[in-house]
Amino acid sequence: MVTKAGTFIVFEGLDGSGKTTQAKLLAGTLRRLGIDVIETEEPTRGSIGILIREILSGRAECDDRALAALFAADRVDHLHSASRGIYKPAMAGRTIVSDRYYFSSYAYNSAHLPIEYVIGINSICAELMRPDVNVFLDLSPEKCLNRLKENRKRLDTYENVGYLRKVRFRYFEAFKLTEEKERVAIVDADSPALEVSDRVAKIVLQYCNFTSV
Ligand code: TMP
Repeated sequence: MVTKAGTFIVFEGLDGSGKTTQAKLLAGTLRRLGIDVIETEEPTRGSIGILIREILSGRAECDDRALAALFAADRVDHLHSASRGIYKPAMAGRTIVSDRYYFSSYAYNSAHLPIEYVIGINSICAELMRPDVNVFLDLSPEKCLNRLKENRKRLDTYENVGYLRKVRFRYFEAFKLTEEKERVAIVDADSPALEVSDRVAKIVLQYCNFTSV
């Protein structure tokens, strides 16, 4: 039996909050410290993740409950896929940095559904592989939208300020509901990327035990 688990760090936040940039910067910082890092993301690049992106772009139709279940299924695949699964490498001591995990479901998918339903369908993943730290990059919905507009030709239909406000509210509700089990670090993301990454690196090094890597 493998007993030495690696470290699992997850970035969460609204679209446009800088998660993808910060995940890359943190992975670079950890590698410079000699830590063996796998960078990953959700929705995944697997077949369920591809279907989810089709639905999000409006090219395929799906009921909200089924979409929430698809995200949960994509997450199980993210853990266990034979070619891309992160569970085995984590158990073998590798460090995983993921751009989104189940708090994204709690926040986004509960915008249209009871949050308890969303937490329930994700419990397999939460019990199996709980992050050492969920780094929430906090930026106002208005600033997130401005960043999205600067970086994209077209916004998806759900990328509007009303929806992002609701999602941010749901994130905080989810943090409260799960506070006994989850470690969440809320990081002010309203600064240049390198300043934010310094804050993130300090928190991660404080919370995560890399001595076993
Ligand atoms: P991305 O923009 O970070 O690639 O994520 C795609 C969208 O999917 C984003 O708007 C958040 C949403 N999402 C959910 O609704 N539920 C989830 O569980 C995940 C992982 C993402």
